[in-house]
Amino acid sequence: GRAPPTESPPHSLLALGSALIARGEHPLQVVYPYGYRFLLNEPDKCRERAPFLVLLVVTEPKDVAVRDAIRQTWGNESAVPGVSMVRLFLTGVHPRFGAPLQWLLEEESALHRDIVQQDFLDTYNNLTLKTLMGLEWVSRHCPNASYVMKADSDIFLNVGFLVRQLLQPQLPPKKNFMTGHVYRNTGPLRSKAYKWYVPREVYPNDTYPPYCCGAGYVLSGDLAKKVYGVAQTLRVINMEDAFVGICLYELGVSVTSSPGGLFHVFQLEYETCRFSKLVLVHRYGPADLLRVWPDFQGGNKTCPS
Ligand SMILES: *[C@@H]1O[C@H](CO)[C@@H](O)[C@H](O)[C@H]1NC(C)=O
Ligand SMILES: *[C@@H]1O[C@H](CO)[C@@H](O)[C@H](O)[C@H]1NC(C)=O
Ligand SMILES: *[C@@H]1O[C@H](CO)[C@@H](O)[C@H](O)[C@H]1NC(C)=O
Ligand SMILES: *[C@@H]1O[C@H](CO)[C@@H](O)[C@H](O)[C@H]1NC(C)=O
Ligand SMILES: *[C@@H]1O[C@H](CO)[C@@H](O)[C@H](O)[C@H]1NC(C)=O
Repeated sequence: GRAPPTESPPHSLLALGSALIARGEHPLQVVYPYGYRFLLNEPDKCRERAPFLVLLVVTEPKDVAVRDAIRQTWGNESAVPGVSMVRLFLTGVHPRFGAPLQWLLEEESALHRDIVQQDFLDTYNNLTLKTLMGLEWVSRHCPNASYVMKADSDIFLNVGFLVRQLLQPQLPPKKNFMTGHVYRNTGPLRSKAYKWYVPREVYPNDTYPPYCCGAGYVLSGDLAKKVYGVAQTLRVINMEDAFVGICLYELGVSVTSSPGGLFHVFQLEYETCRFSKLVLVHRYGPADLLRVWPDFQGGNKTCPS
């Protein structure tokens, strides 16, 4: 297999583009492994501790308001008393406004110390690179985390329920464990009309192994490192969640379905007591999060357990 990427000398996007063309690859082919450089990093977050949960939240450079809402709501590292959590936002470089946004990102990063960025273009078809960057960060800088969650930024997340009911800090951390909303018996969409188009050149098989919906899934820390490792040896595809499923398939590890729709990957009208017994609800923008959060915080006092 190929060696894992190391800190490599600076490169130019032009060189990368030429390399892609020279290799005769499809434009949607994700370029990996490759020595992407960290433009923003937080290597010391786990120096003093082994967190119970690392939250890796996928955002775009421009998502300042989204990150702020998440910091104040489900991304609050001290939201679950007695449980050590680390929150990180993952981002790439804006394809057009990279330079002006970089200046803002650096300020935001200096203030909150929770942004990790590599020098790949932040596009939908490069999303897998963000997940892999997050797993690289865990492998290098936080290898003793018990669990890692990859989350989209447009979700409502009940971290208290996730930690206390599903993961249970009082128990030894699970090994080779991954859970979320599991898709089985699906395959790539071959029509170019879809945002989720996967060309045959990128992924030839007609089916995907079972995988967890990318809105939010949880991996045990050991598995996060193994997925990162095996990803160095595979052809990376542009659907990040299906790709993690492919990694698990290669590792011979199966996904665990979460009990009874705890990961609600469709929209759901806010209701305090219903939400108090779910892990995740999809499609919550920053305004919605800030609106429902104060009520939600009080919910554990009023809802029947
Ligand atoms: C995070 O939660 C703690 C404990 O509930 C609270 O004191 C703090 O203000 C919260 N931080 C933010 C940014 O909302
Ligand atoms: C992904 O990022 C690389 C590196 O920045 C870039 O060359 C490539 O065009 C991007 N791919 C897509 C599909 O946006
Ligand atoms: C992780 O745990 C091992 C074994 O307990 C320890 O030797 C190592 O220093 C820890 N690493 C970090 C980065 O905390
Ligand atoms: C893809 O198909 C090949 C040939 O049938 C098979 O050997 C391989 O295991 C499949 N890969 C996945 C990820 O399903
Ligand atoms: C309710 O949840 C909040 C935030 O997670 C926590 O600080 C508080 O202790 C909980 N209250 C009860 C009664 O469980």
